This record gives sequence, structure tokens and C-alpha cells, in this order.
Amino acid sequence: MQDQPTLLTERLTLRPFVPDDAFDVERYAGVREIADTTLTIPHPYPHGVAADWILTHSPAWENGTAATFAIVETEGGRFVGVTSLMIKREHRRAELGYWIALDRWNRGYGTESNQRLVDFGFEVLGLHRIEARHFLRNPASGQVMRKLGMKQEGVERDWAVKGDHYESMAVYSILEEEWRAARGGLGR
Ligand SMILES: CC(C)(COP(=O)(O)OP(=O)(O)OC[C@H]1O[C@@H](n2cnc3c(N)ncnc32)[C@H](O)[C@@H]1OP(=O)(O)O)[C@@H](O)C(=O)NCCC(=O)NCCS
Repeated sequence: MQDQPTLLTERLTLRPFVPDDAFDVERYAGVREIADTTLTIPHPYPHGVAADWILTHSPAWENGTAATFAIVETEGGRFVGVTSLMIKREHRRAELGYWIALDRWNRGYGTESNQRLVDFGFEVLGLHRIEARHFLRNPASGQVMRKLGMKQEGVERDWAVKGDHYESMAVYSILEEEWRAARGGLGR
């Protein structure tokens, strides 16, 4: 397997995590607003969890089960979030997951970074389908998915337990041929 690359967008750099990113992950993922609409981020965010999580990235890249990127602002280098693909190689599909630091919401970063990772997934990883799920009560994430060209497939009712209640999930996906058609339409 080739080394995990660094990917560029107009404003952002998507790069593999380094151990020193643990501090930023704890700080930015540690706010209630990030934990509130994600499934696996604890609140409060315990010290040490981010460092352990970063250690899982390299083996997962090497065995082809995940591609996880730190999102940083190219100008200034500030860490602003995470985007990842959890890959099922045997089915040529992956699930996209992401979060953006609260003070950087609504600047288009979620769309810009995830579009780059979707392109990478189809173009370089050879995926056929990329899917994503959001809590039904998180419409901003649904808007990001639609802006990526994903289509909603349905709602998984009471799909997950979060704290003391159930969460229903909206499921979205995009297939390789849809991505190709949209890309052609953009003249890329
Ligand atoms: C979801 C999230 C990644 C979006 O990141 P972002 O950088 O703000 O995304 P973008 O700026 O690219 O797009 C956000 C879109 O949602 C829209 N939006 C924001 N709040 C909204 C709301 N309450 N209802 C509907 N749309 C909303 C914005 O207007 C924007 O759409 P537009 O560009 O068409 O106007 C970010 O809010 C986040 O990290 N949330 C917490 C973690 C999380 O939920 N992760 C996703 C798990 S599935």
C-alpha cells in the first residue's frame, strides 16, 4: 500500500494525522456541539483518547479499512476538523464521517473537505459507493451530503442509542457513475 497522501482544496489541506494533533482534537472535539450530533465522540472528551485514536490510523490505512485525514487551513495551518472513509473493500464501498471545529462552521469547509475525500475515494481508492448517515435532527449535515451530490435513501428509525434516547438516521449515498456524471458536468 502506498503512503497515505496529502490532498489539497482551494482553502484546505487534508493530511494524515500526526501525534501532536491530539491536543487539537481534544480541544475542538471536546465541545458539546460536536459530541451532540456524532455517534462515537464522548463528552466530556477524556484526555488520552485522541492520542490512542490517532495511533489506529496508520494500521487502518495500511490494511485498507480506513482513510482518516486531518483538515487544516492551508493558510496558517490551523487544524479545523476531521474527515474519514471507513472502507469495506470487498464491497467497494465506504462510509464518510466528519466534523468541523465549531468556530469554523458555515464557511463551506465541510463541503470542500468532504468533496475532496469523495473524489479521492472514487478516483484513487476505486470505490463504487460512498454512503453517509446523519442524525435526523442535524439538517446542516444533510445539506453537506446533498452538496456532495449524495441522494437520501431513507431513514433508519431509532437506529442508535445516544445517551438516554434513540437517534433516527438519514442515510445518503453516491455511486461512482453519479459522481462521474457530476464531474463531467463540471467540465473537470
Ligand atoms: C455538519 C458540519 C460538519 C457542517 O460543517 P460546515 O463546515 O458548517 O459545512 P458547510 O459550511 O460546508 O455547509 C453547511 C450547510 O448547512 C447549512 N445549515 C447550517 N445550519 C443549518 C440548519 N440548522 N438547518 C439547515 N441547514 C443548515 C448551511 O447553510 C450550509 O448550507 P449552504 O452552504 O447551502 O448555505 C458541522 O456542523 C459539524 O461538524 N457538526 C458537528 C459534528 C457533526 O454533526 N458531524 C457530522 C456527523 S454526520
